[in-house]
Amino acid sequence: MPELSVRGRKLAYAVEPGSFDKSLLTILFVHGSGGDRGDWQGQLKGLSSLVNVVAFELPGHGKSEPPGESTVPAYLQWVLDFVEQVGLQRVMLIGCSLGSAITQAIALSSPTWLVAIGLVGAGARLRVHPAFLDGLRENPGKALAMLSDYCLSPKTGDPLRSELEAKYAAADPELIYGDLSACNEFDVMDRIREVSQPTWIIVGEDDKLTPPKYSDFLNKTIRDSAFVRVPNAGHLVMMEQPSEFNNHLNTFLRTKGLLVSK
Ligand code: COA
Repeated sequence: MPELSVRGRKLAYAVEPGSFDKSLLTILFVHGSGGDRGDWQGQLKGLSSLVNVVAFELPGHGKSEPPGESTVPAYLQWVLDFVEQVGLQRVMLIGCSLGSAITQAIALSSPTWLVAIGLVGAGARLRVHPAFLDGLRENPGKALAMLSDYCLSPKTGDPLRSELEAKYAAADPELIYGDLSACNEFDVMDRIREVSQPTWIIVGEDDKLTPPKYSDFLNKTIRDSAFVRVPNAGHLVMMEQPSEFNNHLNTFLRTKGLLVSK
């Protein structure tokens, strides 16, 4: 598991096929609240023959050094610093949930290295139900169990369901509180039409945390977008339906000519 010291902080990431071919597109995945590189296991395995695939771990998550942050601007600065330090030049940034907020905010600042974005279980505003935020203060165990349940389609069973329950049961409630606070403050509803990069939007039809109508709005508002709704999947569509996710992404990459070496 490689790591990099960014502003004196050890940040971890997973990379396939093991090193960067800078002539190829790099897909940089950014997880959501309480997530880590494991959220993108199916993508690290399934897409690495075509592009460089990197799953970045935000501070405090996975093997990246704590603490976490509690705002999107603070989180996105770590992603910007990581890309600059590694020297990536052609990047498609794909974020889920909190990661989608980071991705939208970075897209709105139009860095030269960003050639496309992907929004997974996303929204231009991500208000969080008080049952999660207050619950994390009052009864963290119950709130974390509810969150893991809400992440998945009711049709998604074991082993993923049990794995996610165990992961959230072991999570630091403070870290998740910071992540959800960052989501709750995030709102680019008035600016999202300024996104100019080709944008791939994907949502699970059973997503309860970011209902598909949020993705509909993104698709209608962003100029150059492609949109897929995936049946039998909830908020973590990349984990619940990894093959479908990868096939749709592959189609997007080909349609947009992003697989060509530069
Ligand atoms: N894109 C498009 N429309 C959105 C939107 C988005 N990102 N976010 C909210 N809206 C819409 C809502 O659908 C609603 O429209 P309606 O009046 O036609 O139904 C309107 O804007 C107001 O919604 P909201 O700002 O969310 O306020 P609210 O007081 O109605 O609801 C919550 C607040 C927290 C109950 C609600 O946002 C919710 O249930 N969220 C999902 C659960 C959650 O906690 N998700 C975590 C995300 S990380």
